[in-house]
Amino acid sequence: MKVFAPGRVNLIGDHTDYAGGLVLPIALQLGTTIEGARGGDRVELTSDDADEQFSRFVDAVVAEAGSSTGFRGSVTSTLPIGAGLSSSASLEVAVALAIGATGDIAALCQRAEQRASGVPCGRMDQLASVHGRAGHALLIDCSTFSIRPVPMPDDIEIVVVHSGESRSLASSAYAERRAQLEAGDARRVRHVTTENQRVVAFADALESRDLQRAGALMVQSHASLRDDFEVSTPALDALVEELVAIDGVHGARLTGAGFGGCVVALTEPGAVALGWKVTASSGAQVLGD
Ligand code: GLA
Repeated sequence: MKVFAPGRVNLIGDHTDYAGGLVLPIALQLGTTIEGARGGDRVELTSDDADEQFSRFVDAVVAEAGSSTGFRGSVTSTLPIGAGLSSSASLEVAVALAIGATGDIAALCQRAEQRASGVPCGRMDQLASVHGRAGHALLIDCSTFSIRPVPMPDDIEIVVVHSGESRSLASSAYAERRAQLEAGDARRVRHVTTENQRVVAFADALESRDLQRAGALMVQSHASLRDDFEVSTPALDALVEELVAIDGVHGARLTGAGFGGCVVALTEPGAVALGWKVTASSGAQVLGD
């Protein structure tokens, strides 16, 4: 059988998911493919570009799934690792589908991510990978996990540009930021409150095709992640500045956890020559038996 699970890029709403806030990711056309066959009682997966984390994530999904079928096969990925495009969530969801895990796959994979990485991450990445919808962003309310697909305008391009700094959640201050937020640090709380408002305004702007407004909200989101939540880096800040100075770029911001990784930009088609052009794509699926 063959399964595919996408990575994601978040258009707006970062460091809000674990606070029960709002996020607006898209699933990508890039992701993880697993090919092989079910059978036996062990899960054995090989990968050409497996790092030391690979088997930890696979084992964590198998452990969280409890009793499940064995599987033997190979894993390939079109996602850059460490870029912040959720290569790990995409691997987890693909493994869960391959072994026939049942129930709430996104929740199961979030637990697997936390178990394997030790990072108290939220559920956005796994939800985007499972529930992605072609041509749509997903407005997710992380207090209920309800999802509203928001159609993407067709006269735009979404561009993802790597800052050159590889990002590792485990070595980052992710857990520290989350703890500060939960302790009520005023700036951290202000980021979440204002970011939630920006997500709602951004979804409205997309629906009314107000791309200038959508872009301005992205730039405000970046400033809040930089100044109030303090998860940006000089390289990410410079890249956002460089991008928004280009004609035809509506807006740009760091995306995902920060501390390195990528910037996402909303642009007129063909405005930017850098980075990867990504499209809002379908969620994880079994492609064949
Ligand atoms: C990482 C986590 C997500 C989310 C983002 C920041 O991608 O895995 O749960 O918290 O950071 O928005």
